[in-house]
Amino acid sequence: MTDKSKEGDRLRDAAFAAMENAYAPYSRFRVGSAVLASSGEIVSGCNVENAAYGEALCAERVAVAAAVAQGLTSFEEIAIASESEEPSPPCGSCRQTLSEFAPDLLVSSYSRNGKSAQWRLSDLLPEAFALNHLRGRP
Ligand code: THU
Repeated sequence: MTDKSKEGDRLRDAAFAAMENAYAPYSRFRVGSAVLASSGEIVSGCNVENAAYGEALCAERVAVAAAVAQGLTSFEEIAIASESEEPSPPCGSCRQTLSEFAPDLLVSSYSRNGKSAQWRLSDLLPEAFALNHLRGRP
């Protein structure tokens, strides 16, 4: 087994472990996520729902925010684990947040029954809004 695939397995396992901590009493859809920083560190997150439904936090953004709070802003891969039958892609808001730090991030998603899918973030979010679009304002 290559070092890269071992790292991918570690990342997947971290996402599933985080899924166990998901707080999702309203949707009952638990999601876990883990980002692999360029430093090799892994930081995980889970979805955190609220009685005010619209305040729900997605697992992916929780993981990225936790990583940034640790001083990590360069990422190689994100793993997503969910209870869906098919591997679930990140929502639009998460795509935009991920794109801020890693526009071509490798996105790996795993379902509860062992299926997986991989995408490049640049394919999931072409024409992302980015810093360069803010230039030239008065
Ligand atoms: N959710 C995530 O955590 N990540 C996604 O990319 C899609 C949706 C969460 C939000 C909410 O808690 C639940 O899944 C149902 O939408």
